[in-house]
Amino acid sequence: MAGTTLLDIKGVQTYYGNIRALNGVDVSVNEGEIVALIGANGAGKSTLMMTIFGAPRARTGTITFAGTDITQLPTHEIARMRIAQSPEGRRIFPRMTVMENLQMGASLDNLKYYGEDVEKVFTLFPRLKERIAQRGGTLSGGEQQMLSIGRALMARPKLLLLDEPSLGLAPLIVKQIFDAIRELNRTQGLTVFLVEQNAFGALKLATRGYVMVNGNVTMSGTGKELLANPEVRAAYLEGGHH
Ligand SMILES: Nc1ncnc2c1ncn2[C@@H]1O[C@H](COP(=O)(O)OP(=O)(O)OP(=O)(O)O)[C@@H](O)[C@H]1O
Ligand SMILES: [Mg+2]
Repeated sequence: MAGTTLLDIKGVQTYYGNIRALNGVDVSVNEGEIVALIGANGAGKSTLMMTIFGAPRARTGTITFAGTDITQLPTHEIARMRIAQSPEGRRIFPRMTVMENLQMGASLDNLKYYGEDVEKVFTLFPRLKERIAQRGGTLSGGEQQMLSIGRALMARPKLLLLDEPSLGLAPLIVKQIFDAIRELNRTQGLTVFLVEQNAFGALKLATRGYVMVNGNVTMSGTGKELLANPEVRAAYLEGGHH
């Protein structure tokens, strides 16, 4: 059902030792949306992504996914609820081939779909098909990002978390990655929560967005609203060619 809340983060505080990295964060993602989280280096964006998976664990607040409180669930059980991620830095397996990396993403529950799911990834990213037997570590940055997303898709997620998919990539590759995310959302209804430094690209892609500053969400709105917001423009969009 479109419009239903899929992920609901309420009052989440996360600490590293005594240092508080998230300061009571409220974020929600509805089914069928692409939601972007933007913010400067060190704002706590990756911490929020990782807190959804329970590592680090939220010290206060609740995280609800598809109506289930997952705040205290072990990470592997959270993954079994069909949340998948492409983490910051991509984290593909460098010595494994493209095919083996994709295999690692497939969950045992879905093995009957394996062939079909691999084909879907190759349709989305034909470059990966051409490099099926190449080791992950020898792929270009853009190809590694495609593989990281492809591996996450092999888990047949209801929610895809992406941490800085465009980082360090040339504009043409960034466009391909963002087009692929839009395509997944449009054709498969996949719900996406993405963290980006590329505020312009992310807000253009997103249904809604949030701005994070020092562990707090300071603004939210539709992608269009945030793109037009003078504070957002001054802090995150000025100096670019937009
Ligand atoms: N493992 C850790 N131990 C201690 N402090 C950490 C750890 N990871 C992150 N932090 C701190 O938590 C804060 C938030 O970091 P986080 O990585 O979530 O930011 P970010 O918004 O993802 O930044 P970037 O855009 O640079 O990726 C920072 O002050 C960071 O130094
Ligand atoms: Mg980060």
